[in-house]
Amino acid sequence: MVTVDEHSFPPADSCGITIPEPCGLIIFGASGDLARRKLVPAVYRLFRQQLLPRGFFVLGLARTAMDSHRYRELLREATPEECVGECWQRFAALIHYRPIDYGDPASLRAVLSETLPPLEENAGTGGNRIFYLATPPAVYGEVISALHRAGPAPAADARNKIVIEKPFGTDLESSRRLNRILLDAFRESQVYRIDHYLAKETVQNILMFRFANSLFEPLWNRRYIDHVQITAAETIGIEQRAGYYEQAGVLRDMFQNHMFQLLALTAMEPPSLFSASRVRDEKAKALQSIRPFPLERLDEFLVTGQYARSSDASIRGYREERGVAADSAVPTYAALKVWIDNWRWHGVPFYLRSGKRLKRRTTEIAIRFRPVPHMMFSRSVGGDIEANTLVLRVQPDEGIQLEIQAKHPGSRMCLMPVNLDFSYRGDVSLSAYERVLLDCMEGDQMLFVREDGVDLSWSLLSPVIRALEGRKGLPDTFFYRAGSEGPDAAAALLERDGRKWREL
Ligand code: BG6
Repeated sequence: MVTVDEHSFPPADSCGITIPEPCGLIIFGASGDLARRKLVPAVYRLFRQQLLPRGFFVLGLARTAMDSHRYRELLREATPEECVGECWQRFAALIHYRPIDYGDPASLRAVLSETLPPLEENAGTGGNRIFYLATPPAVYGEVISALHRAGPAPAADARNKIVIEKPFGTDLESSRRLNRILLDAFRESQVYRIDHYLAKETVQNILMFRFANSLFEPLWNRRYIDHVQITAAETIGIEQRAGYYEQAGVLRDMFQNHMFQLLALTAMEPPSLFSASRVRDEKAKALQSIRPFPLERLDEFLVTGQYARSSDASIRGYREERGVAADSAVPTYAALKVWIDNWRWHGVPFYLRSGKRLKRRTTEIAIRFRPVPHMMFSRSVGGDIEANTLVLRVQPDEGIQLEIQAKHPGSRMCLMPVNLDFSYRGDVSLSAYERVLLDCMEGDQMLFVREDGVDLSWSLLSPVIRALEGRKGLPDTFFYRAGSEGPDAAAALLERDGRKWREL
């Protein structure tokens, strides 16, 4: 393996993370799992790294009746002991809580007119507010409407921002409904729809890699690329989320958002400017160019599967998970072949796969180049020569690897595959949540999904999901063993095209 020089990239912060303007973070659903386990810990890590604005506070809002003191205790319990330390007391002083009733306009009105102003004055936040929806998705609409009704129109004051977690709707209709409610209350420039994959360091690096190096962009097209494989494989199952997952399945959970975003970043044209609107314009164009999936021949494009008990029975099957129906047909795995109808990608298939309880945890984008046109070594070397592959490793072991052929040292004429490897070696300083919070505070929407992005991906997937859900009975090939590479039919999807998946 060839690795880059130890000292070849500067310390993470030398590229200037700026400290955002003072602001208040108002979390709806503050007593829930997401706020306690992901969001507030990310805020705390920013605090410890001194990346939060100088004037800052958190106001937690939820239905649960408790006071700020009890809320701080709850958060402290959710924070790993080794992280609490002396810092925690100073951090806790920034946190406040108030119970609310989303259905009662007076309740939210009181928050806006009585609770917030003194906190804002004290922290000197100048009215900059980030409303963060960490509630169950089913109540997003209710909360946004309540915000709309409770005070002056949020859209009228550019200092208001709203952050929304995925899932953004469950199909095209519900996402459009939600977008309407949202854009009645706010302007698009105030809306931050999170896809935490976009905030992963190596996902951002896709753009840097493609457009800051002149080496690869000339090859980034149908003349040189045979196909692209995008994989997001997990070893975990559905954990405690059966209620959500039974409604979602892998296509809603991973494809509509993360997988399509990775695809768009890989396939898009170079934006003329590195700005949120230009980048999102190009991503939207890439999504627009995806050929709709032919529902009458869906099996040629899509394979779904569900994990069954592992071969040594140490891991239970999906249907045996607590909260999952014993005859559930919800897919926990999908492999999808995508065609992009434009000049750059004509005839280059993109194969996407994602699943739970697979053999290895890995997220990567593998660009497989075409084989050399003429095999002058065939007599001396024998057999086929592996074509070059460029792998953008999103996680774990974030980095980039180029698989090439080199001569095996020695007297005989032999080739061996070697990797040119760049690794961040764990030097990823901000987690995805920290990144999105900072960007939102700074008003940078680049890593957030725009209305058209959500709409386009649902337009493609909603009919597919509807067709799948309308099917009666499941073939045996639907099931795959927990801990395996996925269903055999997924391998067949590529074999039919004379290709194979990269091994997990
Ligand atoms: C979430 C999905 O959006 O992403 C989960 O809802 C999935 O089902 C998770 O496990 C994967 O994220 P990561 O960052 O662990 O790859």
